[in-house]
Amino acid sequence: MGYQAHFRVWRGADDGELRDYTVEVNEGEVVLDVVHRLQATQAPDMAVRWNCKAGKCGSCSAEINGRPRLMCMARMSTFTEAETVTITPMRTFPLIKDLVTDVSYNYVKSREVPAFTPPADLEPGEYRMQQVDVQRSQEFRKCIECFLCQDTCHVIRDHEENKETFSGPRYLLRVAELEMHPLDEARGRPEQARGDHGLGLCNITKCCSEVCPENIRITDNALIPLKERVADTRYDPILRFFRKKEE
Ligand code: SF4
Ligand code: F3S
Ligand code: FES
Repeated sequence: MGYQAHFRVWRGADDGELRDYTVEVNEGEVVLDVVHRLQATQAPDMAVRWNCKAGKCGSCSAEINGRPRLMCMARMSTFTEAETVTITPMRTFPLIKDLVTDVSYNYVKSREVPAFTPPADLEPGEYRMQQVDVQRSQEFRKCIECFLCQDTCHVIRDHEENKETFSGPRYLLRVAELEMHPLDEARGRPEQARGDHGLGLCNITKCCSEVCPENIRITDNALIPLKERVADTRYDPILRFFRKKEE
């Protein structure tokens, strides 16, 4: 049975406002369905980014009642009929209009991670990866680049000035993935994580892991092991001895 839901949606750019709408909801719908109905019936100029409606493209990220979520994966049945559903754009990125933000910070950070570097003379099929290594990186490769973890992390959410030096959980995860790859020959990934990507600013609050729609254990399986690798390489007494000699 359908009902009329109360939605409150951010409209406009930075100087915009929250606007109230009453909109029809039908059984089995998700927030994105209702946003589309809103667009079709009352707000044809409302900007919203989406693509797959299946939780796989990472485009429809927004904040629903203050929580960073994918609109296409947020079931209307999880709200009561009397509840007001408030939808705002991701707060960590510059707002373009309505629910659409400029997420180019993430692409800049992505480009700063040196690519996977396998041995130059490795022939196709020459190396058989151990199952344990396959499984470890499989979790990380589930990332759909929705940037909800980036949106949530207080290091950049509350401190714009940290964007210069901090790449955010998504790209630290990528560094960790490459660092754990048995064939990656790029040197110094832990040191890059510390120096170029600001790993030290992460104080393992785990908020990023809590909002990840792919349930990637970002903090436990990527960030903490990466921090341990930094400690191993940076504070290992033998490596320190040789580093000192080189200096
Ligand atoms: Fe989204 Fe998770 Fe990837 Fe972060 S790690 S971008 S939350 S899928
Ligand atoms: Fe931020 Fe996640 Fe670390 S929320 S502080 S990157 S554990
Ligand atoms: Fe693709 Fe929501 S529309 S993840």
